[in-house]
Amino acid sequence: MSQATRPSDLDGIDLSDLDFWGRPLSERHEAFARLRLHPPVFFDEVDMGPVPAGPGYYALVRHADVVEASRTPSVFASEPSAVSIPDMPQEFNEFFGSMINLDDPRHARMRRIVSRGFTPRMLARLEDGVQRIAEEIVDELLEKGPCDFVTEVAARLPLVVICEMMGIPESHRAMVFENSNVVLAGADPEYLGRDPDVAVHRLLTAGGELAGLLSELAGRRREQPTDDLTSALVNANIDGESLTDQEIGSFFILLAVAGNETTRNAISHGLKLLTLHPGQRELWWSDFEAHAATAVEEIVRHASPVTWMRRTVTRDHEMNGRLYRAGDKVVLYYASANRDETVFTDPDRFDVTRSPNPHVGFGGPGPHFCLGAHLARREITVMFRELHRRVPGIRSTGRPQRLLSDFVNGIKSLPCAF
Ligand code: HEM
Repeated sequence: MSQATRPSDLDGIDLSDLDFWGRPLSERHEAFARLRLHPPVFFDEVDMGPVPAGPGYYALVRHADVVEASRTPSVFASEPSAVSIPDMPQEFNEFFGSMINLDDPRHARMRRIVSRGFTPRMLARLEDGVQRIAEEIVDELLEKGPCDFVTEVAARLPLVVICEMMGIPESHRAMVFENSNVVLAGADPEYLGRDPDVAVHRLLTAGGELAGLLSELAGRRREQPTDDLTSALVNANIDGESLTDQEIGSFFILLAVAGNETTRNAISHGLKLLTLHPGQRELWWSDFEAHAATAVEEIVRHASPVTWMRRTVTRDHEMNGRLYRAGDKVVLYYASANRDETVFTDPDRFDVTRSPNPHVGFGGPGPHFCLGAHLARREITVMFRELHRRVPGIRSTGRPQRLLSDFVNGIKSLPCAF
């Protein structure tokens, strides 16, 4: 469907236009509600400086389409890229070509190896660390008083957890934090500047620094293994499988990006939601443990920290009444599927007791379903438990400063008081 033949109620909606993503969230949700009334709409891509415009993409905005595409990976492939709509130049693959952008059999091999870091035993070991870090964050918050919730609280937990998991020394954490911000900056000029060539350079430099850090660490762990994940990944297991230095580097970049910003944004949105909905806060706080599991799922659904993933169609295929051609790009809008009124009653309502809650905030069912979903749920739960226990009156006191990005629903800063 070209722009010209599009139904008039979709006028003014262009998902390829960065301005669309800078509009208030309520306008964004209203636009997706209108898109959901129609079969998947085709959008043109725009020229992004060094990356030329591609052929365009279908926006999958309904829950049924997102779920179906996720569980049909032989047709809806993650190669050549799931995380960018244009096909990125080859030089990006060295740093950003990890498993999220791979299909089987390469994806399955990589997922098998890295899953060693996410076994219940590994997660149980991390648990103590998550609790300790959350306690330290709240200790410092109480000392500090009113402050920026993102920097002082939400951003710290996921970063420290991933660094501890991989065995990154404390002295390198600030560098990991800054570089992962650059990688996930979307189009926000604060991190990437306004010149596309400069942006590409910054991205590749950030990727190179993160990969370099891991390559050095991998070398050390090969000689002298410890009980961290880097040691488990570089040293072959019983099937003789291990990762090369380059694979470790790009996997770490994926973790630093996939596990950091996402969880940070879920926690920041969580505080904003609890502030805007005092009745829901009261309900959760009245019996924290009874509502924790559903409240955390609802934060992830409502916030949808990851807005979309892309798939590329491998062969002609009909899905839910629409024919897709080999080579077509489709973009799975989780943020829209999570408000699909045919699946969620009163989808805009924030309801800490919502059940069932079949949201796709961690991806749809399929081989790429978020590897860190359990860990993320733990982190969000532990952080809010600690806040509930020691700073129950915490609230956001001003508007969040949002990240300009179509890809992540980011909050750069959020003033808080208690
Ligand atoms: C609230 C927090 C999080 C959200 C909303 C989130 C969301 C997602 C989404 C939407 C995907 C893509 C699914 C798909 O393509 O079908 C994904 C994949 C992934 N996530 Fe998460 N994530 C979160 C936290 C984490 C954490 C804490 C980690 C690790 C420390 C992590 C590691 C990964 C990895 C490695 C993948 C790629 C899996 C694959 O390709 O097989 N994520 N996540």
